[in-house]
Amino acid sequence: IRRKRKTVIDHPRVASYAFCFDIDGVILRGPNTIPEAVEALRLLNGANKYNITVPSIFVTNGGGKPESARATDLSARLETTITTDQIIQGHTPMKDLVGIYENVLVVGGVGNVCRNVAESYGFKNVYTPFDILKWNPAVTPYHDMTEAELACAKDVDFSKVAIDAILVFADSRNWAADQQIILELLLSKNGVMGTSSATYNEGPQLYFAHSDFIWATNYKLSRYGMGALQVSIAALYREHTGTELKVNRFGKPQKGTFIFANKVLSKWRKGVLDEHLKKMPVDAPNALEEADILINEDGDEVVNQSKLEKYEAHDSEEVSDEDEQLFTVGRNQKVKLELPPCSTVYFVGDTPESDIRFANSHDASWHSILVKTGVYQDGTVPKYTPKHTCENVLEAVKYAIEREH
Ligand code: G3P
Ligand code: MG
Repeated sequence: IRRKRKTVIDHPRVASYAFCFDIDGVILRGPNTIPEAVEALRLLNGANKYNITVPSIFVTNGGGKPESARATDLSARLETTITTDQIIQGHTPMKDLVGIYENVLVVGGVGNVCRNVAESYGFKNVYTPFDILKWNPAVTPYHDMTEAELACAKDVDFSKVAIDAILVFADSRNWAADQQIILELLLSKNGVMGTSSATYNEGPQLYFAHSDFIWATNYKLSRYGMGALQVSIAALYREHTGTELKVNRFGKPQKGTFIFANKVLSKWRKGVLDEHLKKMPVDAPNALEEADILINEDGDEVVNQSKLEKYEAHDSEEVSDEDEQLFTVGRNQKVKLELPPCSTVYFVGDTPESDIRFANSHDASWHSILVKTGVYQDGTVPKYTPKHTCENVLEAVKYAIEREH
């Protein structure tokens, strides 16, 4: 085995720690941007006394729009570039269900937006409650479809379609109609409208993008969220069947979302580091000095380095396919580096039950910070205890940077 020298790259301009932000109640309140968020992002982009860039991603339970639209909106509000790769919404991990279900009913959001998002994930046959109401308006006796709703609906004969899964993507705009339809399908034979199962166990699977009971908007008091709809449907189901409803949950604080978030964060950190290494002049004495050697794709020694602390380049034989990541140093020299896991992920959230529980439950390297700009009310005792509490997102960022340096 050809043993190559193990070396380490010091790249003081990219932090080994990272940030993960909740959105509603931390960055936004309804249509309003929380003013301190702009400065918080500026600090993470390098405008801090340590001249360090800190990678960050956003994990919101919200949704109802494409991740790209969310990125564009946040970029404008935060006066920086946020890319689609930095965004996880409640329904984003539902991508993993593509291929498992053929016919899905997508519930929530405005017009056809969630149908379009589900199709963009790769779901083949995506239906909405509007399609069902157009097929047979008697499904909900007291709801007359508006012109706009009719314009969003497809012509489908639901007596011939078996819905395999109900995906509640975003907040319902019509609880009465949506509950009626969801309950009917859960109690149906094989997800066919107009049928009823005697055993109550032949219906489709039910998925919720998240379970937030309340959330912070631009109203003074928190508003009921998707979790409240879930409670309501579960109560109706229990009343009807005498048994408990089985719900598959995504979003925070679920572990699936945590695993998804970690994957996204590690990909994003790799991208941030790669960008910085590309800009690094390979022969600049202050960037690279003396000592060790990096090995390029062809096995050649490409640069000398010293004070190499954070990012380890391994012997190529030691790097498994999974771990191996090619980085570009200078203009076009590729090196094999293994990006170590984040030293600490600072998670900033406003809802103890979703955010603090999420950050505290899955990995000791996550550090939960509770802010007072959303659901959590100052002076109350949060159900899940954060590692740190502060006024707003800017304070959270300052606290973390100081803690790290
Ligand atoms: O519907 C949105 C919501 O319940 C919370 O969103 O960003 O606080 O996770 P977020
Ligand atoms: Mg929130």
